Amino acid sequence: MKKKFAGILSGVLALSLLVSGCGASNTDQGKAANDGKKSVGIVQIVEHPSLNTIREATIAELANQGFKDGENTTIDYQNAQGDQTNLKTIAQKFVSNKYDLIIAIATPSAQAVVSETKDIPVVFSAATDPIGSGLVSSMEKPGANVTGTSDRVSAEKIMELAEKITPGIKTVGALYNTSETNSVSVIENLKEYAAKKNIKVEVATVTNSSEVLQAVNALTGDVDAIFIPIDNAVASAMPAVAQAANKAKIPVYVGADSMVKDGGLATYGINYTILGQETAKMASEILKGKNPGDIPVKSMTDMDIYLNQKTADAIGITIPADVIKEAAEVFK
Ligand code: TRP
Repeated sequence: MKKKFAGILSGVLALSLLVSGCGASNTDQGKAANDGKKSVGIVQIVEHPSLNTIREATIAELANQGFKDGENTTIDYQNAQGDQTNLKTIAQKFVSNKYDLIIAIATPSAQAVVSETKDIPVVFSAATDPIGSGLVSSMEKPGANVTGTSDRVSAEKIMELAEKITPGIKTVGALYNTSETNSVSVIENLKEYAAKKNIKVEVATVTNSSEVLQAVNALTGDVDAIFIPIDNAVASAMPAVAQAANKAKIPVYVGADSMVKDGGLATYGINYTILGQETAKMASEILKGKNPGDIPVKSMTDMDIYLNQKTADAIGITIPADVIKEAAEVFK
């Protein structure tokens, strides 16, 4: 079997040598076109709607900027399925393939890529806390081979919205993955806010998405509301989280619009389509020759309210009319 395969392979090799051997001018042309082609690796930690939105917007905007997959650009997209070991393997493969640029979607992907290369330009996408996560040492002047976009949100702003929708929160449950530095920094922000407002924070942590449901159930008996930061592990289990919380009639305030769409009650968050487009614009500048270290990290500052009316109905609350009026989108 092995032998046969090798035989076919050498046959193919001989044929391709033969083909490439005929007509010198043709070969040169082919080579030039091939050399001019840009190669981009995209790595995503896990499948969840927000990261998918980012990836799709990035690829579409890259095409707008003149880098079309399958034409003048080769995009190699890999998903780690939430597994750190996969992330490392993908990052190593991208580096050994010597791609022209690597786009890393979400903090864990970016951390994996950055630890594998000091040379290949890296554009991270949607890293909540790029400095705290060790991706760059300065937002203004990243310096090395790394820059990107950030989706830093304000736990304080989300809690202020929570107070408008369900006033009188005495205890809030914080649900997140301790190994995601993107979540840890937002939880610190939550704790500062809670201390000022005399709200008790009860923490339920997970290390991967399979532990999420158990963690929600541990909280629902004790808290008035649940707060979830922009956490990849929890986001990928969000429909189950919403189901459990709705059953217990506990409002869930989250860090991203997709988590509201998946059943969370509300957020004050950014637009991830725009973030994906901004990521692609940076990538395009770098592919055209700019140094990543000279491009400041871009934080998305425009925030909007997103609400889920179905969830409000399920837990038996009425969202104030002025909040609904202010919302960018009400999922029904
Ligand atoms: N900000 C996250 C990170 O730093 C990635 C992310 C983007 C995300 N959109 C999200 C996580 C929505 C959860 C939900 O890794």
